[in-house]
Amino acid sequence: MIKTPVNQLKVNYYYNVDLYLDKNFLLLPVDLQYTQDIADNLKRWNITHIYSHNELQEIAEEDRVATPSLTSSITAGVEEQKGKENAEKFYKKCLDYVNTIFRDFKNNEKLNLNVVSDKIKEIIKEIKTNPTYILRLASLPAYDHNYNVTHSTKTTILSIAIGEKMKFPQHKLVELGISCLFHEIGLLKLPERLYNGSGAQTEEEKKSLSTHTILSFRILKTLNVSRDVLLGVLEHHEREDASGYPQKLPGQKISQFGKIIAIACSFDAQISDRPFRKGKDAHNSLLNMMKQIGRTYDDKIIRQLVNLLTLYPLGCYVQMENGSIARSINYNSDKQTYPIMQQITTTSNSVLSERPIFSINEENSSQIKKVLSFSEAVEFEKQYGIV
Ligand SMILES: [Fe+2]
Repeated sequence: MIKTPVNQLKVNYYYNVDLYLDKNFLLLPVDLQYTQDIADNLKRWNITHIYSHNELQEIAEEDRVATPSLTSSITAGVEEQKGKENAEKFYKKCLDYVNTIFRDFKNNEKLNLNVVSDKIKEIIKEIKTNPTYILRLASLPAYDHNYNVTHSTKTTILSIAIGEKMKFPQHKLVELGISCLFHEIGLLKLPERLYNGSGAQTEEEKKSLSTHTILSFRILKTLNVSRDVLLGVLEHHEREDASGYPQKLPGQKISQFGKIIAIACSFDAQISDRPFRKGKDAHNSLLNMMKQIGRTYDDKIIRQLVNLLTLYPLGCYVQMENGSIARSINYNSDKQTYPIMQQITTTSNSVLSERPIFSINEENSSQIKKVLSFSEAVEFEKQYGIV
């Protein structure tokens, strides 16, 4: 690609070619004007060069040939809405399905593993084809389902995505999905208030709750599942420093499925609202987990999670030091820990119709003032009519 210094770009001009931030990320398509806002952003983000497939040539407003009425940012908005709607529809179907199998198990203790495997394959396909939307787990609603159903569903999606990132073959992803979907099934044998209600209060209740790993293991053992599936269920509360349960296993003895489910499960538990506390935002939940590396969670798998969601998980809103609001919209193939952001409002809180895209990295991430909490993000979207 051809590299051009940013200071050669002229504000209020158009260009004959698409301008890229790097080889993957489009900054400015041909039908959009290079505005002062975009120039300011490039400066703010210390971006000194842009890239294009051919030599740049500026075009003045009056010399432009008419372009399609839909600007690419509007197209991107429509795509965003479509992607979000499809992912939510898929996720709602998964919740309904998990609710049905949990209810049937509670009523007649039956689990049909063949049907479950087919559902897990559908989830794997969705994660492979539509990851940017389905992985916005923190902002997906509960659709009136109880915590055990939403938690098991979200954790399964996340575990499979981690397995995918670790390049597991299809059969191993299916096994991981089954193990994760049923990691809390033993809870259904305990009083519901302990896991869906106010939680375990007394020491005796906490002890009773901690038996769920063994109960889940026993339930799965009656089915024709592999050892990996069983260990994932049994060991999802074991911890690297041997402080977990039920066997107080040290890190090197905990199964790979147990480690993955532990991380997905803990992350979801942190971001979820419970009757006795509000959920944390996804960014701070990830930071919390990173602080525990080596003590609680497996180092390599935590890194996979951070690379998967990025430190500013897809879909989250951030307020910049200058007051503008931006949203994390995509992965950055060059800097896996940091996402690609899109600026949504100006510094004076007006919503931008053409929303510039920029990269976040170690150097400029300090310009992020704060991550909006889930309720702040919902309020912001409502107030500004953001898709
Ligand atoms: Fe659990």
